[in-house]
Amino acid sequence: MLKGRNLIAPVDFTMEEIHSLLDLADAIIDNPAAYAESAKGKVLASLFYEPSTRTKFSFDTAMLRLGGSVIGFSDPTTTSTAKGETVADSAKTISQYADIIAVRHPKEGTALLMSRYSDCPVINAGDGGHMHPTQTLTDLLTIRRLEGRLDHLTIGVCGDLKFGRTIHSLVTCLARCEGMRFVFISPQELRMPDYVKTVLDRAGVPYYETHDLEASMPELDILYMSRVQRERFVSEEEYLRLKDYFILTADKMQLAKPSMMVLHPLPRVNEIAVEVDSDPRAAYFKQVKFGMFVRMALILKLLGIE
Ligand code: CP
Repeated sequence: MLKGRNLIAPVDFTMEEIHSLLDLADAIIDNPAAYAESAKGKVLASLFYEPSTRTKFSFDTAMLRLGGSVIGFSDPTTTSTAKGETVADSAKTISQYADIIAVRHPKEGTALLMSRYSDCPVINAGDGGHMHPTQTLTDLLTIRRLEGRLDHLTIGVCGDLKFGRTIHSLVTCLARCEGMRFVFISPQELRMPDYVKTVLDRAGVPYYETHDLEASMPELDILYMSRVQRERFVSEEEYLRLKDYFILTADKMQLAKPSMMVLHPLPRVNEIAVEVDSDPRAAYFKQVKFGMFVRMALILKLLGIE
């Protein structure tokens, strides 16, 4: 049962619970009209202390498509945060008005902190460079629908593996699935953090690290591209040096399997050339739409509505 629970990291849910949530997302995709009033009378608080297009709008539309209502902000300077209110007090207060909270914050651990003070479920919509569990649910729904399974896959993860919270979330979650194998493709400066590699080591999941995208392309079932996270860099000079390290082009796609799927949490900057969008293996805009359906399923599960 997920009713009343928080979602701070994907591993807060068992794989069985995740599959059940993805089953509900599938059912919503098949018959959205059946869920159009499921959350009538319920209120989502959508608290964005950091910019967002997909996560904020997909949470908001998810609640609206379930017949519920949305309150919130995307500019915290319009709230009492500007007067010095703590996030703990904000969580306690907002949970008196809302039935469920989705929060994005630039500081790692903020969603966890808010969940300790909130009187309603808290969903982490991205905390700094740490985790982004609803992006992971989006990725899992996309992979399960397009590949037909969440096991026995070789996944290449390419780009900013150091700061990419979507990547940390996805890899630590998939470490629990059978037969997974990872290829971590990054410049030396943006390698996967040790805490993620430790999760894989403990689970006995094979992986290797490389900076050679072209050489690894032919063995991949999925290529998960990511943006170099400018906002997490201390040095702008370092960002400028690394930002175009990898650019996926139509030429490079010729090295991949005909069935290899390209995912990206978006937004993209330069790391996927626009010419790749018309390749049938480019799945990142389908991924966007699945994100709304999986958030509809998550809201229903946490509110205990099925
Ligand atoms: N994937 C993702 O988190 O996108 P936004 O930053 O636009 O929400």
